[in-house]
Amino acid sequence: MLSRREFFQYSTALLSLTSMPTLLKARQNIRRYSLAAGFSSSSFSDDGVMTELWLYNQQTPGPLLVAKRGEILEVEFHNNLQEPTTIHWHGIRNLNEMDGVPGLTQQAIEPGDSFTYRFPVNDPGTFWYHAHNKAWEQVARGLYGPLIILDDNEEFENPFDQVIVIDDWLINSAEQIDEKSFGNLGHWSHGGRLGNALTINGKFSPELKIPSNGEVKLRFINTSNARIMDLELNDKIPMKVVSVDGSSCTPFNLTRMKIGPAQRIDVIIDDAKTLSSLLEVSSGEEFFAAKFFPSIQSTKQSKLHNGSKPYYKKPQEIPARLIEVHMQGGAMGNLANAIFEGERRELRDLALNDSKLWAFNQQIGGYDLNLADINLGETVLLRVWNDTAWFHAMHLHGQHFWVESNEFGDVSRPLLRDTYLMKPGEKADLIFLADNPGVWLFHCHMLEHHASGMGGVISVF
Ligand code: C2O
Ligand code: CU
Repeated sequence: MLSRREFFQYSTALLSLTSMPTLLKARQNIRRYSLAAGFSSSSFSDDGVMTELWLYNQQTPGPLLVAKRGEILEVEFHNNLQEPTTIHWHGIRNLNEMDGVPGLTQQAIEPGDSFTYRFPVNDPGTFWYHAHNKAWEQVARGLYGPLIILDDNEEFENPFDQVIVIDDWLINSAEQIDEKSFGNLGHWSHGGRLGNALTINGKFSPELKIPSNGEVKLRFINTSNARIMDLELNDKIPMKVVSVDGSSCTPFNLTRMKIGPAQRIDVIIDDAKTLSSLLEVSSGEEFFAAKFFPSIQSTKQSKLHNGSKPYYKKPQEIPARLIEVHMQGGAMGNLANAIFEGERRELRDLALNDSKLWAFNQQIGGYDLNLADINLGETVLLRVWNDTAWFHAMHLHGQHFWVESNEFGDVSRPLLRDTYLMKPGEKADLIFLADNPGVWLFHCHMLEHHASGMGGVISVF
């Protein structure tokens, strides 16, 4: 006789074989790319100054990878760095062994070694990939790139559809990466490593070609370590949000868009003719981020994908399983001490000796902090309390969750996201269907916060 749990696992295992036949289909198209991480340099402007970076295929951002929903993405990766690395496919509801978390889902790829990432891509939308070993340094040095999964009948056609990768670099007066500040406890205990140089698609204030009339789609990706961006267009032109973190949503208009680290927002602008500039306004001043430059006349009906559904509906039977996460720590916080490697210690001691500053439920987080064991197929209510003085961009690997989002002005909206930007003091319920087996990281995407304790694992089997 099988126990209820065993039976459940047995039947869902069968289910997942029938519902995920993607790896078994012989004629499934394989989209192949190769990426190499290595030392390189790039110029952020036309002044000829080269900045030494760590890049994929010597490009910043890394190459745009495009695949169609239902295909298999195969990326042959080679590590030319002098330290181990991995690639995480941010937002992809991935096979666990392809998720790229070193020491949790795979061994780190050593210098000189290769690894082939191979997984089905079933969700259309805007994603990105980035290094996940010492991400606070490897991403800050440039190891990331955009990834677009196209829907059936969708075409990716620049300039009607374009990717806008926004980064915020911390550089010195010689325009080189400020290396001395890596590991700076001030950054780690406050808002993370904030930069002093903003790039759009790897350039300072570039000119972006757009069509001279008709609709244009802009896919924003915030790849910065910690900077929350506030974006506006010239004359506060409304941006129609059609997708967040890859998944389509009920469209809504914004004149100012808040986009946290690792988040993506796709917008449609009705008439490209009105567009002239992109501004970043989080400092209270208008920073000129990019200029739009009309290039070609739009002749045909646009094929911009617009108006499909979220990846899945908000689950009805809630709460099935409650996981509570009480986040504490950092500067100006209320965490006096926490458990680290089995021992309760004062926060000051943890900060000075181990660079640990943040806790989930009084435990300094890490890959060894298991937050819950969940049965495959269960609905989970992840109840998160940001009991700190800081914003946090909470990211769940392997699945998207529903959240009543308070990120955009006064109205709250139900959104399906993979990264949710939480205000200081905010409590949020992240609701998801745990239909993807594996060990999945849940962490703050302000990469310094993650490194100093803000993360844990949810096990789904
Ligand atoms: Cu963008 Cu743990 O990842
Ligand atoms: Cu954080």
